[in-house]
Amino acid sequence: MNYSIEDIMERAKELTTKPEIVVRAEQMLLDPNISFKDIAKVVSMDPGLTARAFKVANSCFFGRLSKAKTLTEAIVTIGIKGLYSLVLVHLIKEYYKTFGLQEMSFWNHSVSVSISSMILATEKGLGEVEDAMVSGLLHDIGKDILNSAEPETYADITRKVRCNGISYALSEQELFGFTHAEVGFELAKRWNFPEHIQKVILYHHNLFCLRQIEKESPASFWLTSLVNLADTLCIRLGMSIKTPQNGFGWGDVEAAKTLGFSEEQLTELEPVIKTRIEEEKRMFD
Ligand SMILES: [Fe+2]
Ligand SMILES: [Fe+2]
Repeated sequence: MNYSIEDIMERAKELTTKPEIVVRAEQMLLDPNISFKDIAKVVSMDPGLTARAFKVANSCFFGRLSKAKTLTEAIVTIGIKGLYSLVLVHLIKEYYKTFGLQEMSFWNHSVSVSISSMILATEKGLGEVEDAMVSGLLHDIGKDILNSAEPETYADITRKVRCNGISYALSEQELFGFTHAEVGFELAKRWNFPEHIQKVILYHHNLFCLRQIEKESPASFWLTSLVNLADTLCIRLGMSIKTPQNGFGWGDVEAAKTLGFSEEQLTELEPVIKTRIEEEKRMFD
Protein backbone atom coordinates (compact mmCIF):
# COMPACT_ATOMS: atom_id res chain seq x y z
CA MET A 1 0.00 0.00 0.00
CA ASN A 2 1.18 3.53 -0.79
CA TYR A 3 1.01 6.01 2.05
CA SER A 4 1.36 9.77 2.14
CA ILE A 5 1.76 12.03 5.17
CA GLU A 6 -1.22 14.03 3.94
CA ASP A 7 -3.37 10.93 3.93
CA ILE A 8 -2.20 9.86 7.41
CA MET A 9 -3.02 13.34 8.78
CA GLU A 10 -6.48 13.12 7.25
CA ARG A 11 -7.19 9.70 8.74
CA ALA A 12 -6.03 10.78 12.20
CA LYS A 13 -8.28 13.84 12.09
CA GLU A 14 -9.35 13.47 15.71
CA LEU A 15 -5.78 14.14 16.74
CA THR A 16 -4.57 16.41 13.94
CA THR A 17 -7.36 19.00 13.85
CA LYS A 18 -6.22 22.09 15.71
CA PRO A 19 -8.42 22.49 18.81
CA GLU A 20 -10.04 25.80 19.71
CA ILE A 21 -8.13 25.99 23.01
CA VAL A 22 -4.78 26.04 21.13
CA VAL A 23 -6.05 28.86 18.93
CA ARG A 24 -7.07 30.79 22.06
CA ALA A 25 -3.73 30.09 23.74
CA GLU A 26 -1.92 31.46 20.66
CA GLN A 27 -4.06 34.59 20.71
CA MET A 28 -3.19 35.14 24.39
CA LEU A 29 0.47 34.61 23.63
CA LEU A 30 0.40 37.27 20.92
CA ASP A 31 -1.78 39.86 22.70
CA PRO A 32 0.51 42.48 24.30
CA ASN A 33 -2.38 44.01 26.27
CA ILE A 34 -3.65 40.91 28.01
CA SER A 35 -3.12 40.74 31.80
CA PHE A 36 -2.31 37.66 33.89
CA LYS A 37 -5.69 38.15 35.59
CA ASP A 38 -7.50 37.97 32.23
CA ILE A 39 -5.57 34.84 31.36
CA ALA A 40 -6.45 33.31 34.75
CA LYS A 41 -10.12 33.96 33.98
CA VAL A 42 -9.88 32.01 30.71
CA VAL A 43 -7.87 29.18 32.26
CA SER A 44 -10.24 28.85 35.25
CA MET A 45 -13.01 27.76 32.88
CA ASP A 46 -11.18 24.46 32.46
CA PRO A 47 -10.75 22.71 35.85
CA GLY A 48 -8.25 20.18 34.46
CA LEU A 49 -6.04 22.90 33.02
CA THR A 50 -6.30 24.90 36.26
CA ALA A 51 -5.14 21.91 38.32
CA ARG A 52 -2.27 21.35 35.90
CA ALA A 53 -1.17 25.01 36.13
CA PHE A 54 -0.89 24.69 39.95
CA LYS A 55 0.98 21.37 39.76
CA VAL A 56 3.55 22.70 37.29
CA ALA A 57 4.00 26.10 38.99
CA ASN A 58 4.57 24.35 42.34
CA SER A 59 6.97 21.73 40.93
CA CYS A 60 10.65 22.11 41.75
CA PHE A 61 11.44 23.27 38.19
CA PHE A 62 10.04 26.78 38.66
CA GLY A 63 11.88 27.58 41.90
CA ARG A 64 9.02 29.02 44.02
CA LEU A 65 9.84 29.49 47.70
CA SER A 66 6.21 28.97 48.73
CA LYS A 67 3.32 27.32 46.95
CA ALA A 68 1.22 29.41 44.54
CA LYS A 69 -2.16 29.95 46.22
CA THR A 70 -4.07 31.67 43.42
CA LEU A 71 -4.32 30.80 39.76
CA THR A 72 -2.92 34.24 38.81
CA GLU A 73 0.14 33.51 40.99
CA ALA A 74 0.56 30.11 39.32
CA ILE A 75 0.35 31.65 35.82
CA VAL A 76 2.80 34.43 36.69
CA THR A 77 5.23 31.70 37.84
CA ILE A 78 5.07 29.63 34.67
CA GLY A 79 4.72 32.62 32.32
CA ILE A 80 2.59 32.94 29.21
CA LYS A 81 4.91 30.78 27.14
CA GLY A 82 4.85 28.13 29.86
CA LEU A 83 1.09 28.30 29.88
CA TYR A 84 0.96 27.71 26.14
CA SER A 85 3.11 24.62 26.68
CA LEU A 86 0.74 23.56 29.41
CA VAL A 87 -2.25 23.82 27.10
CA LEU A 88 -0.49 21.44 24.71
CA VAL A 89 0.37 19.06 27.56
CA HIS A 90 -3.22 19.15 28.75
CA LEU A 91 -4.64 18.38 25.31
CA ILE A 92 -2.34 15.49 24.72
CA LYS A 93 -3.15 14.00 28.12
CA GLU A 94 -6.85 14.29 27.37
CA TYR A 95 -6.24 12.50 24.08
CA TYR A 96 -4.45 9.59 25.78
CA LYS A 97 -7.20 9.07 28.36
CA THR A 98 -9.36 6.92 26.11
CA PHE A 99 -6.69 4.56 24.86
CA GLY A 100 -5.12 1.23 25.70
CA LEU A 101 -1.82 -0.12 26.94
CA GLN A 102 0.33 0.75 23.92
CA GLU A 103 -0.82 4.38 24.01
CA MET A 104 -0.26 4.57 27.78
CA SER A 105 3.24 3.28 27.22
CA PHE A 106 3.81 6.06 24.61
CA TRP A 107 2.48 8.61 27.12
CA ASN A 108 4.71 7.33 29.94
CA HIS A 109 7.75 7.47 27.65
CA SER A 110 6.92 11.06 26.62
CA VAL A 111 6.49 12.13 30.26
CA SER A 112 9.84 10.51 31.18
CA VAL A 113 11.63 12.23 28.27
CA SER A 114 10.01 15.53 29.21
CA ILE A 115 11.13 15.36 32.86
CA SER A 116 14.63 14.14 31.90
CA SER A 117 14.94 17.00 29.38
CA MET A 118 13.98 19.50 32.10
CA ILE A 119 16.51 18.02 34.54
CA LEU A 120 19.32 18.01 31.94
CA ALA A 121 18.44 21.58 30.87
CA THR A 122 18.53 22.77 34.49
CA GLU A 123 21.79 20.91 35.10
CA LYS A 124 23.51 22.71 32.20
CA GLY A 125 21.65 26.02 32.51
CA LEU A 126 20.42 25.60 28.94
CA GLY A 127 17.54 27.66 27.56
CA GLU A 128 14.09 27.71 29.10
CA VAL A 129 12.74 24.82 31.09
CA GLU A 130 9.26 25.02 29.50
CA ASP A 131 10.81 24.49 26.05
CA ALA A 132 12.47 21.35 27.40
CA MET A 133 9.15 20.24 28.94
CA VAL A 134 7.09 20.63 25.80
CA SER A 135 9.75 19.33 23.38
CA GLY A 136 10.23 16.19 25.46
CA LEU A 137 6.52 15.63 25.63
CA LEU A 138 5.89 16.15 21.93
CA HIS A 139 8.99 14.62 20.36
CA ASP A 140 7.20 11.36 19.45
CA ILE A 141 3.73 12.79 18.73
CA GLY A 142 4.06 11.41 15.18
CA LYS A 143 3.81 7.87 16.64
CA ASP A 144 0.36 8.68 18.01
CA ILE A 145 -0.76 10.04 14.67
CA LEU A 146 0.49 6.98 12.76
CA ASN A 147 -1.05 4.70 15.37
CA SER A 148 -4.36 6.51 15.18
CA ALA A 149 -4.43 6.45 11.35
CA GLU A 150 -3.17 2.87 10.88
CA PRO A 151 -3.64 0.97 14.16
CA GLU A 152 -3.03 -2.54 12.78
CA THR A 153 0.10 -1.63 10.83
CA TYR A 154 1.39 0.30 13.82
CA ALA A 155 0.77 -2.62 16.19
CA ASP A 156 2.95 -4.70 13.81
CA ILE A 157 5.66 -2.05 13.96
CA THR A 158 5.56 -2.06 17.76
CA ARG A 159 5.81 -5.86 17.79
CA LYS A 160 8.89 -5.67 15.53
CA VAL A 161 10.48 -3.01 17.73
CA ARG A 162 9.83 -5.07 20.85
CA CYS A 163 10.85 -8.49 19.49
CA ASN A 164 13.61 -7.69 16.99
CA GLY A 165 15.04 -4.62 18.73
CA ILE A 166 14.94 -2.50 15.54
CA SER A 167 14.06 1.17 15.83
CA TYR A 168 10.62 2.67 15.22
CA ALA A 169 12.08 5.04 12.63
CA LEU A 170 13.57 2.20 10.55
CA SER A 171 10.45 0.07 10.72
CA GLU A 172 8.18 3.05 9.88
CA GLN A 173 10.40 3.99 6.94
CA GLU A 174 10.06 0.44 5.58
CA LEU A 175 6.29 0.25 5.94
CA PHE A 176 5.14 3.82 5.37
CA GLY A 177 8.02 5.42 3.47
CA PHE A 178 8.42 8.11 6.19
CA THR A 179 8.89 8.23 9.96
CA HIS A 180 7.08 9.50 13.06
CA ALA A 181 9.52 12.44 13.08
CA GLU A 182 8.24 13.70 9.71
CA VAL A 183 4.60 13.11 10.65
CA GLY A 184 5.04 14.92 13.99
CA PHE A 185 6.74 17.78 12.16
CA GLU A 186 3.72 18.10 9.87
CA LEU A 187 1.44 18.41 12.91
CA ALA A 188 3.79 20.93 14.52
CA LYS A 189 3.67 23.08 11.35
CA ARG A 190 -0.13 22.87 11.06
CA TRP A 191 -0.57 23.83 14.73
CA ASN A 192 2.00 26.65 14.44
CA PHE A 193 4.24 25.33 17.20
CA PRO A 194 7.23 27.64 17.72
CA GLU A 195 9.78 26.94 15.01
CA HIS A 196 12.48 25.62 17.34
CA ILE A 197 10.04 23.00 18.69
CA GLN A 198 9.06 22.00 15.14
CA LYS A 199 12.75 21.36 14.43
CA VAL A 200 13.21 19.22 17.56
CA ILE A 201 10.36 16.98 16.46
CA LEU A 202 11.78 16.66 12.94
CA TYR A 203 15.41 16.05 13.84
CA HIS A 204 15.31 14.22 17.19
CA HIS A 205 16.69 11.03 15.58
CA ASN A 206 18.92 12.82 13.06
CA LEU A 207 21.73 14.40 15.00
CA PHE A 208 23.99 14.19 11.94
CA CYS A 209 21.93 17.18 10.72
CA LEU A 210 22.92 19.17 13.84
CA ARG A 211 25.23 21.61 12.06
CA GLN A 212 22.47 22.29 9.54
CA ILE A 213 20.00 22.78 12.44
CA GLU A 214 22.40 25.20 14.09
CA LYS A 215 22.42 27.35 10.95
CA GLU A 216 18.63 27.25 10.60
CA SER A 217 17.77 27.84 14.26
CA PRO A 218 20.35 28.10 17.07
CA ALA A 219 17.62 27.54 19.71
CA SER A 220 16.82 24.17 18.13
CA PHE A 221 20.45 23.10 18.23
CA TRP A 222 20.74 22.54 21.98
CA LEU A 223 17.08 21.54 22.39
CA THR A 224 17.34 18.76 19.77
CA SER A 225 20.50 17.42 21.41
CA LEU A 226 18.84 17.65 24.82
CA VAL A 227 15.74 15.70 23.77
CA ASN A 228 17.87 13.13 21.93
CA LEU A 229 19.97 12.63 25.08
CA ALA A 230 16.87 12.43 27.34
CA ASP A 231 15.31 9.94 24.89
CA THR A 232 18.47 7.78 24.94
CA LEU A 233 18.52 7.93 28.72
CA CYS A 234 14.89 6.83 29.03
CA ILE A 235 15.40 3.94 26.59
CA ARG A 236 18.43 2.91 28.62
CA LEU A 237 16.37 3.01 31.82
CA GLY A 238 13.60 0.91 30.29
CA MET A 239 11.17 3.84 30.15
CA SER A 240 10.04 3.02 26.63
CA ILE A 241 8.41 0.16 24.76
CA LYS A 242 11.81 -1.49 24.32
CA THR A 243 13.52 -3.57 26.99
CA PRO A 244 16.17 -1.56 28.89
CA GLN A 245 19.19 -1.02 26.63
CA ASN A 246 22.37 -0.35 28.50
CA GLY A 247 24.94 -2.03 26.34
CA PHE A 248 26.64 1.24 25.39
CA GLY A 249 28.82 3.77 27.17
CA TRP A 250 27.88 7.44 27.44
CA GLY A 251 31.11 8.28 25.64
CA ASP A 252 29.54 6.97 22.40
CA VAL A 253 26.47 9.22 22.61
CA GLU A 254 26.86 12.17 20.24
CA ALA A 255 24.31 14.39 22.04
CA ALA A 256 26.19 13.96 25.34
CA LYS A 257 29.38 15.27 23.70
CA THR A 258 27.53 18.15 22.04
CA LEU A 259 26.03 19.27 25.34
CA GLY A 260 29.31 18.81 27.25
CA PHE A 261 28.19 16.01 29.58
CA SER A 262 31.06 13.71 30.56
CA GLU A 263 30.66 9.95 30.86
CA GLU A 264 31.14 10.21 34.66
CA GLN A 265 28.54 12.95 34.98
CA LEU A 266 25.90 10.96 33.10
CA THR A 267 26.69 7.75 34.96
CA GLU A 268 26.11 9.66 38.21
CA LEU A 269 23.00 11.41 36.90
CA GLU A 270 21.30 8.27 35.60
CA PRO A 271 19.95 6.91 38.94
CA VAL A 272 19.17 10.46 40.12
CA ILE A 273 17.06 11.12 37.01
CA LYS A 274 15.30 7.77 37.43
CA THR A 275 14.20 8.73 40.95
CA ARG A 276 13.26 12.27 39.92
CA ILE A 277 11.06 10.96 37.08
CA GLU A 278 9.13 8.86 39.62
CA GLU A 279 8.77 11.88 41.93
CA GLU A 280 7.82 14.46 39.31
CA LYS A 281 5.59 12.49 36.97
CA ARG A 282 2.47 13.36 38.99
CA MET A 283 2.89 16.81 37.47
CA PHE A 284 1.44 15.30 34.30
CA ASP A 285 -1.33 13.16 35.90
FE1 LIG B 1 11.25 9.33 18.27
FE1 LIG C 1 11.20 8.87 22.15
